[in-house]
Formats: sequence, structure tokens, C-alpha cells
Amino acid sequence: MPEENEIKLDPWGRPEIKDYNRLYEVFGIKPFGELINRMKSDGIELSPFMKRGIIFGHRDFDNVILKAIENKERAAAMTGFMPSGRFHFGHMMTGLELIYFQKLGFKIFVGLADAEAYAVRHISRKDIIKIGIEEYVANLIALGLDPSKTDFYFQTNRKGSYHSLIQLFASKISYNELEAIYGEITPGKIISALTQAADILHPQLPEYGEYKHVVVPVGADQDPHLRLTRDLAGRFKGEIELEPPASIYHRLIRGLDGGKMSSSKPDVTIFLTDPIDIAKKKFMSSLTGGRNTAEEQRKLGGEPDKCPVYDLYLYHLIQDDNELVNIYNRCKSGSLLCGECKFFGFSRLEKFLEEHQKKLEKAIDRAWSIIEIPKI
Ligand code: TRP
Ligand code: SF4
Repeated sequence: MPEENEIKLDPWGRPEIKDYNRLYEVFGIKPFGELINRMKSDGIELSPFMKRGIIFGHRDFDNVILKAIENKERAAAMTGFMPSGRFHFGHMMTGLELIYFQKLGFKIFVGLADAEAYAVRHISRKDIIKIGIEEYVANLIALGLDPSKTDFYFQTNRKGSYHSLIQLFASKISYNELEAIYGEITPGKIISALTQAADILHPQLPEYGEYKHVVVPVGADQDPHLRLTRDLAGRFKGEIELEPPASIYHRLIRGLDGGKMSSSKPDVTIFLTDPIDIAKKKFMSSLTGGRNTAEEQRKLGGEPDKCPVYDLYLYHLIQDDNELVNIYNRCKSGSLLCGECKFFGFSRLEKFLEEHQKKLEKAIDRAWSIIEIPKI
């Protein structure tokens, strides 16, 4: 068995995860694929990310969420976004997961982690609030999240017993335990972690609707927060009834350089607000899984599994499974070359961005009106 501290996921360090299988062994995340048959026999529609293996892992999704659906009990999906940079194709994944759960009838909670952004990214309050509303809330609405059925809030602005939770959590955890999960940790990060635990657990409180069964869709880099939160939930037995939440984890989409997609690397990240000409420039200079010469590629075939362009198809730009398989096979066999492929890919990207940006324009005013704006 590998040592746990051999790999540590630093949720603030924007880690790049090379081998997802290690997360099963080291942290006890369960393979999501094992649940697919049960979902099918329950008649629960699978999301495209589940079908395509992009959602690769979970904690307790069967015990908490599938059971709730089978027993026809109310459930909620909760996630948070740090409003520190522009909304990109990586964030979109989480957004689509929320929309999937909303369609299943779940209540949706979206926390804007302004306290966290302030603590760990050192951005001004004014910028955080504007980015939170115009990038995150507005893009989520434009993607199709129904704001009338979604509880959007800023962490610093959440009223009531949410804040009591943070204070109570602080008395149930030692510095050593925090250090074991996160490594060296500052007061700002400790408060961010406890606040995130409150984000995840507060839907269960009567004041916020008493949703006992909660799933948290996130990237695998957020798992340390889930481990902390699930632990904390169990420490209030007999005092506050808190069920450990379920989580699902998606593979992070790659940036156009093959590394991590991140707001801090704008040249290799496509933002949903990118003007078409800028998106085109980035997309056309993307790394591919192609060979050095056309001749070589015809002979050996391309490597779609290593290709950021293919990632965009797989995650977002191609909905039809047959079409996706067709591109994959043509790439592998060498009959599709990267020039032609990118030309096609860009036409898809352009269409998506044009349609999305029209919706976004309309969503911005709505976004400002449906969330309470922090006073300081
Ligand atoms: N820490 C998360 C991030 O860096 C944001 C976040 C805050 C969050 N609260 C949350 C994610 C609750 C999931 C659930 O992106
Ligand atoms: Fe990527 Fe397309 Fe080139 Fe294949 S043909 S490596 S999918 S860009």
C-alpha cells in the first residue's frame, strides 16, 4: 500500500493529477463506473460525463444519493466557485453537472467563495464581487441553470446558522489534523477550509431547507475538503444531525498546452467570454496528439488520448457519441490529419461561443438581480 503522504492534493496549489487510478488506492475514492448498472436499472438518466468516464470517482454516491432517489427523498447538489478568474471550459463542466442534477429534481446551492478568493488569491473585494456575478452566476445561467431553483450566495454574505457552523467546526478539529490533510496551513486557509465545510453541510440545516442528502460535484483536487467535511459531519452526533455528503469527481480538462487549464494561463485556456478571433488564435495554436509530419501521421495515426483538441470534443463540443467515436477512430488510423480536424473543431467552438455569448448578454442583468451583494 503506498504511503498516504506520498501524494498530497493541495486544493490551493492547482495540482495537476497525472494518474487518477492512484486516487482510488491512496484516498479511497471509489470508481464511478461501478454505479452505472445500478443507475440504469433504477431508470436514472446518466449524464454525458458519466457515460464518457469523465466523472471517474465518487464518495458515497450510492449510499447517499442513489438511495435517496430510490426512496424518493429530497436531495440537493452543492458546489462552490472561487471568483478569482474568468469562467472557462473547466468551470463549465461543474456547471453542466449542476444542471444535470437540477433536471433530476435536486435543489441546487452555488456558493461563491469570495472569502476564499480574498484569502488565497489576494484580489480586491470589488473585483471578486464583479467576477463572481458577471463571470460565474451569469455564465451558469446562460448555460441553462435555472436561477429560480438555485440558491446563489457569497460566502461572506450568507446569513444565519451557516456562520454558526464555521465557529462550531473550529472547536472540533486540531491543527495536527488540518496539517495531515493540507500540509502547512495559514489562518486564512484554515478559515477557507472550514467555510467550505459549512458550504457543503449547511443545506442540511432547517434554516436552509433541511436537505439531508447532498452531493458535491467537483474536480478531484477538491477532495481534501471533502475528507475534512465528511469527518466533521460525524463529530456532532447527538448535537447537530449532519449526514456525510456524497461527492463526485471529474477529470480536469486539459489546457491547450496539454497542462492544466487555468485562469492563470489565459493563452492556453478558452474562456466562455473570449471574443471569437481570440478563441480562434488560441485554438489554432493548440498542441495536438499529432505526429511531426503528415506522412508520419498517415502511417502511425494520431494520439487522441493525449490531444487537448480531442479533450474539447470529448468534454464539450461533440454530443453525439457516434460522431465522437468516428473522429477518434479516424485520428487513430491516420486518415484524419490535425489541420482538417482543427478546422472542423473551430467551427464547433465558434458556433458554441456565438450562441452562448448571446445568452450571456441577457443573463448579466439577471445575475446582478438574483444574488445579494456583499456590503463590504
Ligand atoms: N475551493 C473551491 C475552489 O477552489 C471552491 C469552493 C468553495 C467549493 N466552497 C465550495 C467547492 C463548496 C465545492 C463545495 O474552486
Ligand atoms: Fe487531435 Fe484531431 Fe490531431 Fe487527432 S487529428 S491528434 S484529435 S487534433
